Amino acid sequence: MSEIPEINELDALQTRALEELKMVSDEAALQAWRVAHLGRNAPLMQVFSRLGQLPKELRPQVGQRANQVKQALEAALEERAAALRAEALHRALESERLDVTLPGRRPEQGRLHPTTRTLRRIVRIFAEMGFQVYRSREVESDAYNFELLNMPAHHPARDLWDTFYTTIPGVLLRTHTSPGQIHVMRERAPEPVRVILPGMCYRYEQISARSEIQFNQVEVLAVGRNITFSDLKGTLNTFARRLFGEQARTRLRPSYFPFTEPSAEMDVECFVCGGKGCTVCKGSGWLEILGCGMVHPTVLQNGGYDPQVFSGFAAGMGLERITMLLHRIEDIRYFWANDVRFLNQF
Ligand code: PHE
Repeated sequence: MSEIPEINELDALQTRALEELKMVSDEAALQAWRVAHLGRNAPLMQVFSRLGQLPKELRPQVGQRANQVKQALEAALEERAAALRAEALHRALESERLDVTLPGRRPEQGRLHPTTRTLRRIVRIFAEMGFQVYRSREVESDAYNFELLNMPAHHPARDLWDTFYTTIPGVLLRTHTSPGQIHVMRERAPEPVRVILPGMCYRYEQISARSEIQFNQVEVLAVGRNITFSDLKGTLNTFARRLFGEQARTRLRPSYFPFTEPSAEMDVECFVCGGKGCTVCKGSGWLEILGCGMVHPTVLQNGGYDPQVFSGFAAGMGLERITMLLHRIEDIRYFWANDVRFLNQF
């Protein structure tokens, strides 16, 4: 104990402040402590302002001690602040801990739609035979969808396609990819043409397991000199074997389309039962895969080719239908249902 009360007061102040500092455990409490012990109204600061009232001979001693206390408190404050920061960092490191040795989580991978996969296979097969892909519009005129394909107004063959008409007279959603034939021919004539035309088609039908109002077709068209029915047969047979397997047997059945003459449909031997007859082929042993024929002279003419000089063959197939056969999908509505349990399987 000192003889001088001010010195004792300062010592007591320091002891109390340092005691209190030990209880400080967060930033807010630390700030409160700073205000209480080093702030303008802190008792320590009042000692400084009262120095002038002290007897002259005591001033240096008291002033020096006050400075020491101030420095001690400031140092203690700094130390405590550093400790609190270190604690906070430690807590953060503990709670936000990241185990870098954990194996990564594989992101969900998207897949191509089964229709797209089939289309890509078909495009490859035809590309290797020299066919280009040609895209053609989905909104068509009556002329391209019907008339130029040898179906004048009121031609009964129009009933083969239940058509979506728009409110604009003569404008409709294409019912097949065949109008693309006229577009390519008019663009390329008199050069030879070897193209496939994939794309969406629309039909005003009752939706069921077998038919949708919206579906994809792939049209095949070859126009040139000396193109014969054997070219059609050879090309389409090659295509069928490449798609369904080397062992796949095919047959052509006579059929009718206004824009081809002669016309045929191609069947592939049912690969489920091997031709014996089952539920998939409905007992016939055969599955229909496409319509085809030699391009009708009128259609060649409408495309800008002289039918005396040029000939050609065409075919059209339903992409979803072929995908259904390839994967034994029993209901065409799956293609638009967007059910991942279905899509995940491909
Ligand atoms: N466009 C016909 C259809 O939709 C298919 C076809 C195309 C037939 C080309 C012959 C030639 O049914």
